[in-house]
Amino acid sequence: MRLDWEDFARPWLDVADELEVAHRPVLTALMEAARLEPGEHVLDVGCGTGPVLQAALRAVGQGGRVTGIDIAPPLLARAAERLSGTVELSNGDAGSMGPEP
Ligand SMILES: C[S@@+](CC[C@H](N)C(=O)[O-])C[C@H]1O[C@@H](n2cnc3c(N)ncnc32)[C@H](O)[C@@H]1O
Repeated sequence: MRLDWEDFARPWLDVADELEVAHRPVLTALMEAARLEPGEHVLDVGCGTGPVLQAALRAVGQGGRVTGIDIAPPLLARAAERLSGTVELSNGDAGSMGPEP
């Protein structure tokens, strides 16, 4: 089945801010469990609009590296807006991506 990612993403984008507030306790628990250290590299598969990317970036700092992959271009565009060049973003289906060269 092929999805139209614009149609998929629109309702998500409409409520993205509210969802982030509702999901904040989950993000807090995730970051505590991940115990990221400055300088580490992080890959967020299914990064959406980027809340986890933003938190990971704070944790690893400028010496680290944060990469997000998402299949839906409109969600990645929102992540790019909020993180403006501080993380690497890649559009694609994580299920069919190979390892980095
Ligand atoms: C429930 S959302 C979570 C988004 C984000 N991690 C967050 O916490 O707000 C799941 C995300 O996974 C993405 N996604 C679903 N299937 C994917 C795939 N095969 N490859 C890459 N991204 C995918 C969707 O576009 C969506 O942004």
